[in-house]
Amino acid sequence: MKLEINNLIKEYGEIKALSNVSIELEDVSVLTLIGPSGGGKSTMLRVMGGLEIPDEGRVLINDEMVNYKIQEELMKHRQSNGFLFQSFNLFPHKTALENITLPLKVVHGIDPSEAIEKAIKCLKRFGLESHAQKMPYQLSGGQQQRVAIARAIASKPNLLFLDEPTSALDPEMTAEVLDLIAELKNGGQDIVLTTHEMGFAKEVSDVIAFIENGSVVELDKPEIIFDTSEVTNPRLEKFLGRVTKY
Ligand SMILES: Nc1ncnc2c1ncn2[C@@H]1O[C@H](COP(=O)(O)OP(=O)(O)O)[C@@H](O)[C@H]1O
Ligand SMILES: [Mg+2]
Repeated sequence: MKLEINNLIKEYGEIKALSNVSIELEDVSVLTLIGPSGGGKSTMLRVMGGLEIPDEGRVLINDEMVNYKIQEELMKHRQSNGFLFQSFNLFPHKTALENITLPLKVVHGIDPSEAIEKAIKCLKRFGLESHAQKMPYQLSGGQQQRVAIARAIASKPNLLFLDEPTSALDPEMTAEVLDLIAELKNGGQDIVLTTHEMGFAKEVSDVIAFIENGSVVELDKPEIIFDTSEVTNPRLEKFLGRVTKY
């Protein structure tokens, strides 16, 4: 992906969730946002994906400006992306298969038989076909997140946004979801994610943005961000010291 973000501002009342964020990147397949809780990572991701409208600034993804002003255009942008959040991603009263076919039919206007075909293909790709007829409560947290990722990519999204996709999972399930994300990257999927899994961030990311107090404090390759002998920014140093302590 190519990304150009200029002077992005998003406020919630008194809170400056994003204050004047600018980022320019070319040829990046995985961008990872890290930083302390409340720093603005989710807001950044939601604004980029078109789920949230910024107060000021502009976002260009692959040279196309996100049009926040025209509802129809914004919906189109939203639908061109895939999303996955920390938890509660699946419709609880639908099977795994229905969870994938429903948005394909309702949001993307794909006819039912084709939607089923696409959904089964996606489940198979991730070794989840045996779960097709199960309800979310019959699946482990890791399996649910993998179904949710299958759903997010079933419509072949331009960008896939993952907001702390493993933070509600135990270590084993975390590993299976992270493996899947790494596989998606290898398959050519462009991804913007937030995570507290620093080892994974280092491994999978092309670029890391360290976000704090609504600002991008550092933006660099993981080798540089995580090279503790070279960290010059005291805020990044403090953050890394805390998250890699145990
Ligand atoms: N819908 C909202 N309404 C009010 N405040 C919000 C809303 N979303 C986020 N915020 C505030 O904006 C700031 C940034 O939040 P967020 O983007 O969720 O940070 P992060 O994902 O880094 O934890 C926080 O102070 C948060 O409380
Ligand atoms: Mg968040």
